[in-house]
Order: sequence, then C-alpha cells, then structure tokens
Amino acid sequence: MATPHISAPDDAFAGSILLPGDPLRARYIAETFLEDVAEVTAVRNMLGFTGTYKGTPVSTMGTGMGMPSASIYITELTRFYGVRRLIRVGSCGGISTDVKMRDVILAIGAGTDSQTNRTRYNGWDYAATASFALLRAAVDAADGLGIDTHVGNFHSSDLFYNSYTDALEVWQRMGVLAVEMEAAALYAIAAEEGAQALAIATVSDHLVTGEQTSSAEREGTFGQMVKIALEAIHDVEGA
Ligand code: HPA
Repeated sequence: MATPHISAPDDAFAGSILLPGDPLRARYIAETFLEDVAEVTAVRNMLGFTGTYKGTPVSTMGTGMGMPSASIYITELTRFYGVRRLIRVGSCGGISTDVKMRDVILAIGAGTDSQTNRTRYNGWDYAATASFALLRAAVDAADGLGIDTHVGNFHSSDLFYNSYTDALEVWQRMGVLAVEMEAAALYAIAAEEGAQALAIATVSDHLVTGEQTSSAEREGTFGQMVKIALEAIHDVEGA
C-alpha cells in the first residue's frame, strides 16, 4: 500500500511505534535498540523502520516538527497501517521551575494553541490525554530502570518562536510543566483512530532560566527515554 506520505507494504509496521521528530533519530533507535531491523519507508526522507525489542515487534519513524507534520504521519500510521500504540520520544522546553534540564517528562495531558483538535471535535475542547495503560507502564518502566520522571501536562504549541509574550506566564499559572509541539495532536488522533498514545520528552532548554543543552547531552537523555518507551511497550504487549 502507499498512502500519500508513506510507501510501505500493508504489514510493514508493527502494532507499536516510537515517534521521534527527527528521522535520523528513528534510524538511531532502530540501529541502537532494535534487532532484525528493516527500513520500511523513506518518502521525503521521513525514515521508518521495523524490528524487534526483546522479541516484541516495534517500529520507529520520524514525524517532523509540529502538529501539522506529525498529524499526517500519525493519521496514516493508525488509519492505514494498523499501528495501535504510539509513543512520541521528543524534546521540550521547561516551563515549571520544578523541572530541570535533561529531566524526563511523561505527559498525562496536553493543552494546545492549535485549532486542529477543536476542528476534529466539533468546535469543542477535547481533553487530550495519554493512554493510562501506556502511562502506567512507562512510569513503572522508569522506576525499574532507576530513571526519575515527572508526570504532568504539556502545552503543545504551533509556534516555536511565540510572539505572544504572556504565554510563559499563563502556562506557569496553569501548572504546565513544559512546551513542545506534537502531544495534543497525537493524543486526539489516537483517540479518533481507537489507538493508545503517550508523549515522553526530555527538557532540552528551559524557558525560565534560558539554559540549553548541547546535542551530545541530548543523545544520552534520549536513550533513557527510548528505553522507558520500549519497556512500556514490551510490558503492555505482554500483558
Ligand atoms: N518550544 C517548543 N518546543 C520545544 C521547545 C521549546 O522551547 N524545546 C523543545 N521543543
């Protein structure tokens, strides 16, 4: 089958997928953490791979940055390729002073300035929330791996360069932990397609302190997130 943005056989993807924004991160996940790996799609260089983790079939694919790009891939993967469990593994900008650089955050829910979920939900406000099964499995996996995590809300923004200068203050007042650009759409599309989803992100920069991480530092924390996601999938699929 070929969809407009993915060209792969019908059964090319596993039931579970890890979704980084960067397609080269998908390749890194496949080469570093999976076995028996095959590249399954490369349309627009948005690379996708399928392999196994401890015997469980798992795929990984880039989504690009932001909800418009990610929505295309998430919709095609769930609607046409049978993907049922999706875990985003990304980066976020810290908002709460409780979260520090390189911390791992599991998003129980995501608010958004995007109109896409309202469009999807008849103009109403859909509660974009994680799959409880995946979230619980990820929290347990992190505990088992000895990795500290935060569980709370993201704000999923359409803009990286936000010109609305009150945004930070509003997000802080509402107890939002961090800003990123995909989770709210991931959660709503998964709901619409009857799939389970979770967004995990490490703090790559902090909007309050102005700190930023180097790409080398990001690689280490990225691996922690991937392990949490893979263990969570392994646990949920084995249940
Ligand atoms: N804003 C939005 N998305 C992000 C950020 C940010 O500061 N950092 C990492 N992803």
